Amino acid sequence: MNILAVESSCDETAVAIVADGRKILTDCIASQVDLHRLYGGVVPEIASRKHIEAIYGLADQALKTANLTRDDIDAVAVTYAPGLIGAVLVGVNFAKAAALALNKPLIPVHHIRGHIAANYLAYPELEPPFLCLVVSGGHTMIVNVKDYTDMEILGTTLDDAAGECFDKVARVLGMPYPGGAALDRAAKLGDETKYTLPRSKPGVNPYDMSFSGLKTASLNLIHHAEQVGEEIDVNSLCAAFSAAVSDTLVPRVVMAMEETGCRKLAVAGGVAANSRIRKDITMAAQKLGATVYMPPLSLCGDNGAMIGAQAYYEYLSGNVGDMSLNAYATKSILGEAL
Ligand code: KG4
Ligand code: ZN
Repeated sequence: MNILAVESSCDETAVAIVADGRKILTDCIASQVDLHRLYGGVVPEIASRKHIEAIYGLADQALKTANLTRDDIDAVAVTYAPGLIGAVLVGVNFAKAAALALNKPLIPVHHIRGHIAANYLAYPELEPPFLCLVVSGGHTMIVNVKDYTDMEILGTTLDDAAGECFDKVARVLGMPYPGGAALDRAAKLGDETKYTLPRSKPGVNPYDMSFSGLKTASLNLIHHAEQVGEEIDVNSLCAAFSAAVSDTLVPRVVMAMEETGCRKLAVAGGVAANSRIRKDITMAAQKLGATVYMPPLSLCGDNGAMIGAQAYYEYLSGNVGDMSLNAYATKSILGEAL
């Protein structure tokens, strides 16, 4: 089954064609990052306009690069939530029009379910049940993926997402948006023991996390140094920050594996590209004899292929939409309104 999949929830317009949820036939992306960089973050109005400009051409490009025609498409999938509402709407309206014109099913996909499904593309043998650490620009959670469309959230951040904090700290250190990858590169050259940053344990659910204290502590440290005329060792601060994020995530994932007995662990989302997190997760899983699934860096960030992968399983579960499909800025991965 060839699914044409559309993703436009943030600052990448993406159209992919995926066969049977596992094989990427093409994965076209038009990134707007250079534009938003001028403003230090995503400007929602610009994002929506650029999606409109890019999406039709990108769909044509997808067919062409996959060497397919419209008749070869069996369904149209789209990210319908969560994201910047104007941006998500562009994808949803395009997908509705395409499904109507092609007379094919329309499959709504939750963006975070898509991130998890990036692992199905990278690992054809991976099947639920497994645990997944989701770390993206807007979400941080530990998910028990019981089946392709049956999930349980074990824990989540109570405030900022890990990616948000990476970007904020990087920005204050003068790195261009989105700064996560640049901060990661700098961290590799630093000494993490040079700065002490907090690891918080919020709330009653031991799987829940908090990153706003870490963000504030990092920003205070930078501002204080500026005020007293001290030079910050940027690489070492980046190393200490990355270590603190990883120390917040990894022990909770270990606890989840111990308590559920599950020995398959996947990682998903833009921050899953982080080298420190990848290293610590790999070591922790090795100790437990668990198998780790980490998408290649190209499938960690937003892309259309991950939406096409999840869409196949949504379709098999009967989760098909119609012309009344709406876009949502927020919606739980379980499908409930927030
Ligand atoms: O999943 P994603 O593409 O978008 C959302 O769904 O939110 O994640 C984007 C986030 C950004 O915050 C970006 O800075 C971060 O992923 N990121 C990284 C790295 N590469 C991308 N954060 C830390 N280390 C990286 N290597
Ligand atoms: Zn994303």
